Amino acid sequence: MAAASVFRPGLFNHKVAIVTGGGTGIGKAISAELLELGCNVVISSRKAEKLNSAVEELQTKISHSNPATVTSVPCNIRNEDEVKSLVSEVIKQYGRIDFLVNNGGGQFTSPVENMSSKGWRAVIDTNLNGTFHCCKEVYTAWMKQHGGVIINIIADMWKGFPGMAHTGAARAGVDNLTKSLAIEWASSGVRVNAVAPGTIFSKTAMENYKELGPSLFKMFIPNSPAKRLGIPEEISSAVCFLLSPGASFISGATLRVDAGQSLYHSAWTIPDHSAWPEAPEGENLEAVKELLNQPKSKL
Ligand code: ADE
Repeated sequence: MAAASVFRPGLFNHKVAIVTGGGTGIGKAISAELLELGCNVVISSRKAEKLNSAVEELQTKISHSNPATVTSVPCNIRNEDEVKSLVSEVIKQYGRIDFLVNNGGGQFTSPVENMSSKGWRAVIDTNLNGTFHCCKEVYTAWMKQHGGVIINIIADMWKGFPGMAHTGAARAGVDNLTKSLAIEWASSGVRVNAVAPGTIFSKTAMENYKELGPSLFKMFIPNSPAKRLGIPEEISSAVCFLLSPGASFISGATLRVDAGQSLYHSAWTIPDHSAWPEAPEGENLEAVKELLNQPKSKL
């Protein structure tokens, strides 16, 4: 059972949302909270089977007095034609699209030196190009004429993203795309914002990282000012706020939902080494060598 929303029941009655990656992890929590608030939700990802079981699960949480419905449309967001079909199908089914939540994405851990061009391109294609396809199609097919709200889910990539540089680059791209669209589409009454989660534990995220999962998540705890991991429901409440009339004057913003993690330590450790280029000769170099009591050190 999902945590109860802090927002008013019926807040999103009769609205329609597309949530990409809406059947798992953060996306499922967003879908569940939107449904709880009365929003009709279309979840989308590549695999029909997984979507069907997520729809079944989400349906069991909708109370009888709640008019919300949940359906699914399979779509590979890398493919522009499939995104066009997704959007036209939602307009056909519901006659409107009020909200787009770009949450679908994926990555794998690898230092850049071991990353293939194919792996790099796949992550950029899903996270950056896929988000572009969804934003553009929802805008041209519906929001340009009717307004709406778009939320892009990105990541804590503010200090770079060593170990997952492809997703860092893609998410930084989406952060900037968010700002461009907020300006380009303001005259259609479309608000565009991003949410940058810190380290969020979900069963699906844990499975994605396979045997690395448990240690990866545990490793992050000391790096969080909260000294705990976040959970998907802590992201969905921020998304619901940004979609709501409570955020009617917010656009082009990226909300970090990370307990301050991005202001604190990096999880990446740099081994001790002496590979750094030498500092230039001079009185300051002499002084610092003296301070460190290492007259012979190359510093
Ligand atoms: N989630 C992860 N990859 C995806 C893709 N290519 N299309 C839709 N959802 C996804």
